[in-house]
Amino acid sequence: MTTAKFITFEGGDGSGKTTQLSRTVDWLKSQGKDVLQTFEPGDTALGKEIRRLLLSGEHTPVPVTELLLFLADRAQHVEKVIKPALAAGKWVVCDRYTDSTLAYQLAGRALEDNQTLRDMLRWAECGLSPDVTIWLDLPVADAALRMQARESSGEVANRLDHEKKAFHEAVYHAFASIQKENPQRMKCIDARGDIAQVQQDIREVLQHI
Ligand SMILES: Nc1ncnc2c1ncn2[C@@H]1O[C@H](COP(=O)(O)OP(=O)(O)OP(=O)(O)O)[C@@H](O)[C@H]1O
Ligand SMILES: [Mg+2]
Repeated sequence: MTTAKFITFEGGDGSGKTTQLSRTVDWLKSQGKDVLQTFEPGDTALGKEIRRLLLSGEHTPVPVTELLLFLADRAQHVEKVIKPALAAGKWVVCDRYTDSTLAYQLAGRALEDNQTLRDMLRWAECGLSPDVTIWLDLPVADAALRMQARESSGEVANRLDHEKKAFHEAVYHAFASIQKENPQRMKCIDARGDIAQVQQDIREVLQHI
């Protein structure tokens, strides 16, 4: 682990991304690294507006609109936040990126997974692919239990959290096939363990990049 890396965390709703990402960032910092923690969608001034349009539930975009808004947010994020941080020598750890778009906006919405859309996804990255992706592999039923617990503790769910089981199953299978297609970049972490165990497994992977 020497030069700055771009690391993304992926997985279904409630798989533990945010929980594990912040612990991973603390650990990287404890090792003396300069780290930027960020997320999609919405971690730019413009992106905040896009996030609100996407997730507030005020609007229901058709699948193509939804996809384009996520891509617009990404291009802004890459150019304004991620690339400058990497250029300054920072490690960047991002909660969701292109794999989520592929899983949710293509597979989840049953948009045809064709070369044109794949090229658009790549185009919106503005030349920046992750060095490593941590996929938190949690079966949909386990994730649903965690989400229920989270909601009963008062956290407000967003529009995509409320999708039906079939949607979340499609998302899960999409992540699994992306991992199969990209075993070098995307590391599968069994997310069923407790928080400390999952964190240990993530550090094990990141120690070897
Ligand atoms: N390993 C774990 N065991 C049990 N509960 C967990 C574990 N990891 C996270 N949780 C709990 O599960 C819930 C979902 O975790 P978290 O918010 O980190 O998931 P997420 O992947 O970021 O979800 P979202 O996609 O909705 O942002 C939280 O209430 C969290 O405290
Ligand atoms: Mg989260």
